[in-house]
Amino acid sequence: MRLCGLRYRWPGAVADCLVIDALTIGAGERVFLRGPSGSGKTTLLSLVGGVALPQSGTVEVAGQALGALSAGARDRFRADHVGFVFQLFNLLPWLSARDNILLACRFSPQRRVRIAAAGGTPAAEVARQASRLDLASALFARPAAQLSVGQQQRVAAARALIGRPGLVVADEPTSALDADRQQAFIDLLLEECAATGSALLFVSHDQRLAAHFDRVLDLATLNRAGNAGEGGR
Ligand SMILES: Nc1ncnc2c1ncn2[C@@H]1O[C@H](COP(=O)(O)OP(=O)(O)O)[C@@H](O)[C@H]1O
Ligand SMILES: [Mg+2]
Repeated sequence: MRLCGLRYRWPGAVADCLVIDALTIGAGERVFLRGPSGSGKTTLLSLVGGVALPQSGTVEVAGQALGALSAGARDRFRADHVGFVFQLFNLLPWLSARDNILLACRFSPQRRVRIAAAGGTPAAEVARQASRLDLASALFARPAAQLSVGQQQRVAAARALIGRPGLVVADEPTSALDADRQQAFIDLLLEECAATGSALLFVSHDQRLAAHFDRVLDLATLNRAGNAGEGGR
């Protein structure tokens, strides 16, 4: 992932939210990005995933400039190459855990191709992820809404990782967990990204979670827009 000369301002805002000269994340690298609440972490992940486009500068993922793609092509590219783990997981509550994970493959021809190239099937891959993430198969038929927070979180991780996207981005995915389980989940995510070869960009306001990452970045240092967030006032 490579950002260059990035400037982003929310529509209607009077000041820039993000001004970042350069940021590169190498293949398979695991990066922790910290910054207080309101400092622009979620905004940055939206730009990295091509959900929003910057007013100037470029965002490249796997060598593809996201701004060069149409909106539809950008959605397909994101489905193929970027796995998202959201703060509130964003599982579809009425679908089973299994179908939530399979959905990531349904929207992504490339994920299906990569699974097939490794000699697998999406269904077998869900079962493999489930055992690695310590999710009992009995849970798999249950609607996501009936799972505990910790289980939902592991389903969200499996959905992000299935089909080996080159980049996994995680937006404070541990904020709903107690302290013991936060580090356990991060370790699991790090292990799984190592297994799939995916780079990981993990953002959090809590720098105590930064151990075990290859690199720790501070958005306050990276961002020249001068938005220090709530903790910086
Ligand atoms: N949808 C939006 N429209 C307008 N402004 C937004 C929107 N989302 C976030 N912002 C603003 O962008 C800044 C950064 O927010 P955000 O990226 O959510 O920070 P963080 O994730 O670090 O808490 C804040 O000032 C916030 O008010
Ligand atoms: Mg946020």
